[in-house]
Amino acid sequence: MEVKRAASAGFCFGVKRAIELALQARAENTGRIFTLGPLIHNPQVVRLLAEKGIEVIQDLAAAAEGTLVIRSHGVEPEVLAAAQELGLKVVDATCPFVKRAQELARDLTEQGYTVVVVGDREHPEVRGIVGWTGGRAQVVEGPEEAARLPLLPRVGVIAQTTQPLDNFEAVVAVLRRRLVKEGEAPSELRVFSTICHATAERQQAARELAAQVDVMVVVGGYDSANTRKLAAICRESGTPTYHIETADQLKSEWFAGARVAGLTAGASTPDWIIEEVERRMKELAENAQEEMQMADFRTL
Ligand code: F3S
Repeated sequence: MEVKRAASAGFCFGVKRAIELALQARAENTGRIFTLGPLIHNPQVVRLLAEKGIEVIQDLAAAAEGTLVIRSHGVEPEVLAAAQELGLKVVDATCPFVKRAQELARDLTEQGYTVVVVGDREHPEVRGIVGWTGGRAQVVEGPEEAARLPLLPRVGVIAQTTQPLDNFEAVVAVLRRRLVKEGEAPSELRVFSTICHATAERQQAARELAAQVDVMVVVGGYDSANTRKLAAICRESGTPTYHIETADQLKSEWFAGARVAGLTAGASTPDWIIEEVERRMKELAENAQEEMQMADFRTL
Protein backbone atom coordinates (compact mmCIF):
# COMPACT_ATOMS: atom_id res chain seq x y z
CA MET A 1 0.00 0.00 0.00
CA GLU A 2 1.21 3.45 -0.85
CA VAL A 3 0.93 6.20 1.76
CA LYS A 4 0.44 9.70 0.35
CA ARG A 5 0.92 12.74 2.52
CA ALA A 6 -1.16 15.88 1.97
CA ALA A 7 0.81 18.62 0.16
CA SER A 8 0.39 20.81 3.24
CA ALA A 9 0.12 19.24 6.70
CA GLY A 10 1.29 19.63 10.28
CA PHE A 11 2.83 22.55 12.15
CA CYS A 12 1.96 25.98 10.82
CA PHE A 13 4.39 28.87 11.00
CA GLY A 14 2.79 30.42 14.12
CA VAL A 15 2.73 27.21 16.16
CA LYS A 16 6.31 26.31 15.20
CA ARG A 17 7.45 29.80 16.19
CA ALA A 18 5.60 29.61 19.55
CA ILE A 19 7.32 26.33 20.44
CA GLU A 20 10.71 27.67 19.41
CA LEU A 21 10.21 30.81 21.51
CA ALA A 22 9.13 28.72 24.52
CA LEU A 23 12.19 26.46 24.19
CA GLN A 24 14.44 29.48 23.77
CA ALA A 25 12.93 31.05 26.91
CA ARG A 26 13.64 27.76 28.74
CA ALA A 27 17.27 27.77 27.57
CA GLU A 28 17.82 31.40 28.57
CA ASN A 29 16.05 31.44 31.96
CA THR A 30 16.56 29.46 35.12
CA GLY A 31 13.24 30.31 36.83
CA ARG A 32 9.74 29.00 36.15
CA ILE A 33 8.42 29.11 32.58
CA PHE A 34 4.69 28.74 32.01
CA THR A 35 1.88 29.23 29.53
CA LEU A 36 -1.71 30.22 30.32
CA GLY A 37 -3.46 27.08 29.07
CA PRO A 38 -1.63 24.54 26.87
CA LEU A 39 0.80 26.09 24.36
CA ILE A 40 -0.74 24.01 21.57
CA HIS A 41 -3.61 21.54 21.30
CA ASN A 42 -1.42 18.48 21.19
CA PRO A 43 -1.08 16.49 24.42
CA GLN A 44 2.11 14.68 23.30
CA VAL A 45 3.92 17.98 22.65
CA VAL A 46 2.55 19.52 25.86
CA ARG A 47 3.92 16.50 27.79
CA LEU A 48 7.35 16.93 26.18
CA LEU A 49 7.35 20.63 27.05
CA ALA A 50 6.38 19.77 30.64
CA GLU A 51 9.38 17.40 30.82
CA LYS A 52 11.54 20.39 29.87
CA GLY A 53 9.95 22.41 32.68
CA ILE A 54 7.50 24.46 30.60
CA GLU A 55 4.39 24.32 32.78
CA VAL A 56 0.75 24.95 32.00
CA ILE A 57 -1.15 27.14 34.44
CA GLN A 58 -4.81 28.11 34.23
CA ASP A 59 -4.69 31.34 36.20
CA LEU A 60 -2.04 34.04 36.50
CA ALA A 61 -2.67 34.03 40.25
CA ALA A 62 -0.73 30.75 40.28
CA ALA A 63 2.39 32.60 39.08
CA ALA A 64 4.28 34.70 41.57
CA GLU A 65 7.52 34.78 39.58
CA GLY A 66 8.98 33.52 36.31
CA THR A 67 8.39 33.85 32.57
CA LEU A 68 4.99 33.80 30.91
CA VAL A 69 4.98 32.62 27.29
CA ILE A 70 1.95 34.01 25.43
CA ARG A 71 0.44 31.38 23.13
CA SER A 72 0.10 31.82 19.34
CA HIS A 73 -3.64 32.62 19.87
CA GLY A 74 -2.66 35.80 21.72
CA VAL A 75 -4.33 37.34 24.76
CA GLU A 76 -6.36 40.35 25.87
CA PRO A 77 -4.27 43.42 26.87
CA GLU A 78 -5.51 42.92 30.46
CA VAL A 79 -3.51 39.69 30.67
CA LEU A 80 -0.32 41.47 29.61
CA ALA A 81 -1.00 44.24 32.15
CA ALA A 82 -1.64 41.70 34.93
CA ALA A 83 1.60 39.86 34.09
CA GLN A 84 3.48 43.14 34.22
CA GLU A 85 1.93 44.01 37.56
CA LEU A 86 2.99 40.63 38.95
CA GLY A 87 6.54 41.36 37.76
CA LEU A 88 6.58 38.43 35.34
CA LYS A 89 8.84 38.35 32.33
CA VAL A 90 6.72 38.04 29.17
CA VAL A 91 7.71 36.24 25.97
CA ASP A 92 5.08 37.12 23.42
CA ALA A 93 4.61 34.20 21.02
CA THR A 94 1.38 35.59 19.58
CA CYS A 95 1.34 34.59 15.92
CA PRO A 96 2.10 37.70 13.80
CA PHE A 97 -1.11 37.06 11.81
CA VAL A 98 -3.15 37.12 15.04
CA LYS A 99 -1.23 40.20 16.15
CA ARG A 100 -2.27 41.96 12.93
CA ALA A 101 -5.95 41.19 13.67
CA GLN A 102 -5.53 42.49 17.25
CA GLU A 103 -3.88 45.71 16.03
CA LEU A 104 -6.55 46.30 13.40
CA ALA A 105 -9.26 45.74 16.02
CA ARG A 106 -7.61 48.22 18.37
CA ASP A 107 -6.99 50.87 15.66
CA LEU A 108 -10.48 50.62 14.17
CA THR A 109 -12.03 51.01 17.62
CA GLU A 110 -9.86 54.05 18.32
CA GLN A 111 -11.02 55.55 15.00
CA GLY A 112 -14.67 55.15 16.02
CA TYR A 113 -15.62 51.99 14.11
CA THR A 114 -17.72 49.15 15.48
CA VAL A 115 -15.50 46.12 15.01
CA VAL A 116 -17.25 42.95 13.85
CA VAL A 117 -15.18 39.80 14.36
CA VAL A 118 -16.24 36.78 12.32
CA GLY A 119 -15.35 33.73 14.38
CA ASP A 120 -16.02 31.46 17.31
CA ARG A 121 -16.78 33.68 20.34
CA GLU A 122 -15.50 31.05 22.78
CA HIS A 123 -12.12 30.69 21.07
CA PRO A 124 -9.20 32.26 22.98
CA GLU A 125 -8.00 34.04 19.83
CA VAL A 126 -11.38 35.75 19.42
CA ARG A 127 -11.60 36.60 23.12
CA GLY A 128 -8.14 38.16 22.79
CA ILE A 129 -9.10 40.23 19.72
CA VAL A 130 -12.27 41.45 21.45
CA GLY A 131 -10.11 42.44 24.41
CA TRP A 132 -8.12 44.79 22.14
CA THR A 133 -11.35 46.70 21.42
CA GLY A 134 -12.00 47.18 25.13
CA GLY A 135 -14.74 44.54 24.89
CA ARG A 136 -16.69 46.63 22.37
CA ALA A 137 -16.37 44.37 19.31
CA GLN A 138 -19.35 42.32 18.15
CA VAL A 139 -18.66 38.67 17.38
CA VAL A 140 -20.69 36.83 14.75
CA GLU A 141 -20.30 33.19 13.84
CA GLY A 142 -22.05 33.48 10.47
CA PRO A 143 -24.34 35.51 8.17
CA GLU A 144 -27.55 34.86 10.18
CA GLU A 145 -26.03 36.53 13.21
CA ALA A 146 -24.70 39.38 11.06
CA ALA A 147 -28.24 40.07 9.85
CA ARG A 148 -29.39 40.58 13.46
CA LEU A 149 -26.53 42.83 14.57
CA PRO A 150 -27.29 46.22 16.01
CA LEU A 151 -24.81 48.36 14.06
CA LEU A 152 -23.30 51.74 14.44
CA PRO A 153 -22.74 53.80 11.27
CA ARG A 154 -19.09 52.88 10.76
CA VAL A 155 -18.18 49.22 10.77
CA GLY A 156 -14.85 47.40 10.38
CA VAL A 157 -14.97 43.66 9.78
CA ILE A 158 -12.13 41.29 10.57
CA ALA A 159 -11.87 37.50 10.83
CA GLN A 160 -10.59 34.95 13.28
CA THR A 161 -7.47 33.75 11.43
CA THR A 162 -8.78 30.20 10.99
CA GLN A 163 -12.18 31.17 9.54
CA PRO A 164 -13.32 29.57 6.27
CA LEU A 165 -13.21 32.27 3.57
CA ASP A 166 -16.79 31.53 2.39
CA ASN A 167 -18.23 32.20 5.87
CA PHE A 168 -16.33 35.48 6.12
CA GLU A 169 -17.52 36.52 2.66
CA ALA A 170 -21.12 35.60 3.52
CA VAL A 171 -21.00 37.87 6.59
CA VAL A 172 -19.51 40.72 4.55
CA ALA A 173 -22.25 40.26 1.90
CA VAL A 174 -24.97 40.60 4.57
CA LEU A 175 -23.36 43.76 5.94
CA ARG A 176 -23.02 45.21 2.43
CA ARG A 177 -26.72 44.54 1.74
CA ARG A 178 -27.59 46.38 4.92
CA LEU A 179 -25.29 49.20 3.78
CA VAL A 180 -27.22 49.81 0.55
CA LYS A 181 -30.65 49.57 2.18
CA GLU A 182 -31.72 53.10 2.84
CA GLY A 183 -31.55 54.20 6.40
CA GLU A 184 -29.95 51.01 7.64
CA ALA A 185 -26.49 50.98 9.21
CA PRO A 186 -23.66 50.66 8.46
CA SER A 187 -23.11 53.62 6.17
CA GLU A 188 -19.40 52.88 5.96
CA LEU A 189 -17.96 49.40 5.84
CA ARG A 190 -14.28 48.51 5.94
CA VAL A 191 -13.29 44.90 5.36
CA PHE A 192 -10.02 43.30 6.43
CA SER A 193 -9.57 39.64 5.63
CA THR A 194 -7.28 38.58 8.45
CA ILE A 195 -7.67 34.91 7.51
CA CYS A 196 -4.42 32.96 7.64
CA HIS A 197 -3.80 30.87 4.54
CA ALA A 198 -2.13 28.01 6.45
CA THR A 199 -5.55 26.73 7.47
CA ALA A 200 -7.13 27.06 4.03
CA GLU A 201 -4.10 25.41 2.40
CA ARG A 202 -4.25 22.43 4.76
CA GLN A 203 -7.99 22.07 4.23
CA GLN A 204 -7.69 22.24 0.42
CA ALA A 205 -4.79 19.73 0.42
CA ALA A 206 -6.80 17.35 2.65
CA ARG A 207 -9.88 17.67 0.40
CA GLU A 208 -7.84 16.92 -2.75
CA LEU A 209 -6.02 13.98 -1.19
CA ALA A 210 -9.15 12.41 0.35
CA ALA A 211 -10.73 12.32 -3.11
CA GLN A 212 -7.82 10.25 -4.49
CA VAL A 213 -7.27 7.61 -1.79
CA ASP A 214 -9.03 4.56 -0.32
CA VAL A 215 -8.68 5.58 3.33
CA MET A 216 -7.60 8.76 5.16
CA VAL A 217 -5.78 9.14 8.47
CA VAL A 218 -5.87 12.53 10.18
CA VAL A 219 -3.37 13.07 13.00
CA GLY A 220 -3.73 15.63 15.75
CA GLY A 221 -5.05 16.39 19.21
CA TYR A 222 -8.71 15.49 19.82
CA ASP A 223 -9.06 18.99 21.31
CA SER A 224 -7.61 20.64 18.23
CA ALA A 225 -10.42 22.38 16.32
CA ASN A 226 -8.41 22.61 13.09
CA THR A 227 -7.60 18.87 13.18
CA ARG A 228 -11.26 17.98 13.75
CA LYS A 229 -12.18 20.24 10.84
CA LEU A 230 -9.66 18.42 8.58
CA ALA A 231 -11.23 15.09 9.55
CA ALA A 232 -14.73 16.46 8.78
CA ILE A 233 -13.57 17.68 5.34
CA CYS A 234 -12.07 14.25 4.54
CA ARG A 235 -15.28 12.48 5.65
CA GLU A 236 -17.36 14.77 3.40
CA SER A 237 -15.50 13.27 0.42
CA GLY A 238 -16.99 9.87 1.35
CA THR A 239 -13.57 8.31 2.02
CA PRO A 240 -13.36 6.35 5.31
CA THR A 241 -11.47 8.68 7.67
CA TYR A 242 -9.85 8.04 11.05
CA HIS A 243 -8.75 10.77 13.46
CA ILE A 244 -5.95 9.63 15.76
CA GLU A 245 -3.48 11.31 18.11
CA THR A 246 -0.65 8.76 17.97
CA ALA A 247 0.62 5.86 15.84
CA ASP A 248 -0.37 3.19 18.39
CA GLN A 249 -4.05 3.97 17.76
CA LEU A 250 -3.86 2.76 14.15
CA LYS A 251 -5.66 -0.53 13.38
CA SER A 252 -4.60 -2.90 10.59
CA GLU A 253 -8.20 -3.61 9.51
CA TRP A 254 -8.54 0.02 8.37
CA PHE A 255 -6.10 -0.72 5.56
CA ALA A 256 -7.34 -4.14 4.45
CA GLY A 257 -7.72 -4.03 0.67
CA ALA A 258 -6.54 -0.39 0.45
CA ARG A 259 -4.13 0.43 -2.38
CA VAL A 260 -3.47 4.03 -1.41
CA ALA A 261 -3.90 5.63 2.01
CA GLY A 262 -3.83 9.37 2.64
CA LEU A 263 -2.25 11.10 5.62
CA THR A 264 -2.73 14.61 6.89
CA ALA A 265 -2.25 16.42 10.19
CA GLY A 266 -3.50 19.47 12.03
CA ALA A 267 -1.48 22.67 12.48
CA SER A 268 -0.47 21.60 16.00
CA THR A 269 0.92 18.17 15.04
CA PRO A 270 4.72 17.89 15.02
CA ASP A 271 6.63 16.16 12.20
CA TRP A 272 7.91 13.38 14.46
CA ILE A 273 4.36 12.20 15.18
CA ILE A 274 3.41 12.38 11.48
CA GLU A 275 6.51 10.35 10.54
CA GLU A 276 5.81 7.74 13.21
CA VAL A 277 2.23 7.38 11.95
CA GLU A 278 3.41 7.05 8.34
CA ARG A 279 5.88 4.29 9.29
CA ARG A 280 3.24 2.41 11.30
CA MET A 281 0.66 2.71 8.51
CA LYS A 282 3.09 1.04 6.10
CA GLU A 283 3.84 -1.75 8.58
CA LEU A 284 0.15 -2.38 9.24
CA ALA A 285 -0.63 -2.39 5.53
CA GLU A 286 2.07 -5.03 4.99
CA ASN A 287 0.63 -7.13 7.84
CA ALA A 288 -2.90 -6.79 6.42
CA GLN A 289 -1.56 -7.89 3.01
CA GLU A 290 0.16 -10.95 4.49
CA GLU A 291 -2.98 -11.90 6.41
CA MET A 292 -5.05 -11.69 3.24
CA GLN A 293 -2.56 -13.85 1.35
CA MET A 294 -2.59 -16.44 4.15
CA ALA A 295 -6.40 -16.47 4.16
CA ASP A 296 -6.37 -17.03 0.36
CA PHE A 297 -3.84 -19.82 0.80
CA ARG A 298 -6.00 -21.59 3.41
CA THR A 299 -9.00 -21.60 1.08
CA LEU A 300 -7.02 -23.30 -1.72
FE1 F3S B 1 -0.70 31.72 12.89
FE2 F3S B 1 -2.08 30.81 10.93
FE3 F3S B 1 -0.88 29.17 12.52
S1 F3S B 1 -2.64 32.46 12.25
S2 F3S B 1 -0.87 30.20 14.47
S3 F3S B 1 0.12 30.62 11.15
S4 F3S B 1 -2.86 28.84 11.62
